Amino acid sequence: MSMGSDMYRQQILDHYKNPRNYGELDDATFSHVGENPLCGDAIRVDVKLADDGETIEHVSFEGDGCAISQASASMFSGELRGKTLEELDAMDRDDVIDLLGVDISPVRVKCAVLAEKVAQDGAAIYQGEKEDMDMTTTEE
Ligand code: FES
Repeated sequence: MSMGSDMYRQQILDHYKNPRNYGELDDATFSHVGENPLCGDAIRVDVKLADDGETIEHVSFEGDGCAISQASASMFSGELRGKTLEELDAMDRDDVIDLLGVDISPVRVKCAVLAEKVAQDGAAIYQGEKEDMDMTTTEE
């Protein structure tokens, strides 16, 4: 194992044990939940938009699950601040995998992208671009 990936692994564990932006936003513009049905890991993401109605001002999340799903939610929530909803929509799985910085097996990719999918679906529902749904799943 290279030093580099070791550092990333430690960072993942640190975010898992001390998640950033964890909790509930009581002034959220929208919230959405999702799960990975294969394992039951779940995440809720709260997003507060700035007055311009499109810039993400705050993001918080709460969840339960594996180190990859929770650490990626922690990292991703920090990454979203200051982005527009359009920029969020344009993000893909590689953006999350880059944040994590480790090779992820195809099965674990679903863990990694859970928070991103939940945030993107929440934004799409809020903007009326997607029909409301109870929750996002990584199976879609
Ligand atoms: Fe469930 Fe990772 S094992 S999201």
